[in-house]
Amino acid sequence: MLNRSSLTAADLISTDPQPFKWRMGVRPLRLEQWLLVDADRDADLNEINAIIDRHRDEIIYCEPTAAAACKELATLVIEHLRHVPQLNKVELNSRPDMHIIEATRRLVQEDICLLERRSEGWVMTACAVAIPTQWDVPSKFGNTLDSIHEPVPRYNTDLAQTMGTFFDRLRTDRPVWRANRTLTDDPSLRLAPKRRHEPLRRDITATNVAESVWLRVEYQTLRRLPKTDAIVFTIRILRQRIASVAQHPTALTELIRWLSTLPEEVRSYKDSTVRHGLLVKQWAIEHAHIDEQQDH
Ligand code: HEM
Repeated sequence: MLNRSSLTAADLISTDPQPFKWRMGVRPLRLEQWLLVDADRDADLNEINAIIDRHRDEIIYCEPTAAAACKELATLVIEHLRHVPQLNKVELNSRPDMHIIEATRRLVQEDICLLERRSEGWVMTACAVAIPTQWDVPSKFGNTLDSIHEPVPRYNTDLAQTMGTFFDRLRTDRPVWRANRTLTDDPSLRLAPKRRHEPLRRDITATNVAESVWLRVEYQTLRRLPKTDAIVFTIRILRQRIASVAQHPTALTELIRWLSTLPEEVRSYKDSTVRHGLLVKQWAIEHAHIDEQQDH
C-alpha cells in the first residue's frame, strides 16, 4: 500500500505579504518531493488515463525540437518513481504510436509542461496537461510564457520581467516549487475553463459550504534538465474540503485574508474562487474559525 502523501493543500497556504501583488513565491525543492506519489495514485491514474483517451489532442503536444528533452525527462521520471518501493519495476509504455511525453504522463499524478529557450523567450514546446485548473490548454501550445499568461491581470507589471530572468538563470542543481490557490465546488481532477465564470450553484450556502467546496492547490515545480537545457514545469493538484482546511486555522485565516486583498481585476479573473470565498468567510465567522475583523 502506498502512503497517503504527507502534503495537504492547506500545508501549502503560506502568508503572502501585503499589499497584493502576484509573486514568484518560489522555494528550494528537495528532489524527493519533485513528483508526489500517494495512496490516490491508482484512482488518479485511472481518471487521468480515461481523460487522455477521451481528449488526447487537447492534452498532448510536442514540437520536433522538444523530442530530446522529452526523452531526458522520461528517464528522470522513471528514475524518480523507481525509488518508491512499490514502483521499483515501473516502465514506460513503449507502444510505437504513443509519444514519449504521453507515456510519461500516464505514469505520474502530475501534469507536465516543457519549455525551451528561443529568441522570443521561453516557449512551451511540449506538454501533457490533462487536468488543468480552469484554463484552456490547446490555446497555449507553442506559446511563450508571456503569451501563456496573457489572461492573467497584472502579469505584465508584477511578473513578466522577473519570470524571464528567473527562467534564464534557473540552475540544474537548484529546482524550485511554488503554489497557486483556487476554490471550487467541483472535486474532479479536470476543470474546464468555463467553470471559472459559472454562476454559483444555488444549493451551496454558508451552512453547507464547508462540505461542498474544495481548496484546490496547484503544487508546481520547476527544474532545468542537465543535458538538453529545457525547463520542466510540473503541476500536481492537491484537493481538500474546506471543513478539513479549517483544521489548519492559519491556512484558513490566510486564505480568507488573501481573498479580501485581491484588486478588482484579479477578483474578476478569480471569479468563482472569490464568490466561494465569500461563503467560506461567512461560514468561518459563524463557526468562530475567524473573527469579523481578522481578514483585513
Ligand atoms: C515561477 C513560474 C511561474 C509563476 C510565478 C506563474 C504565475 C502565475 C500566476 C500568478 C497565475 C494566475 C494564478 C491564479 O489563477 O491564481 C498563473 C496562471 C497560469 N500559469 Fe503560470 N506561473 C509560472 C509558470 C508557469 C509556467 C511554466 C506555465 C506553463 C508553461 C504556466 C502556465 C500558466 C497558465 C496556463 C495559467 C492560467 C492562465 C489562464 O487563465 O489562461 N505558468 N501563473
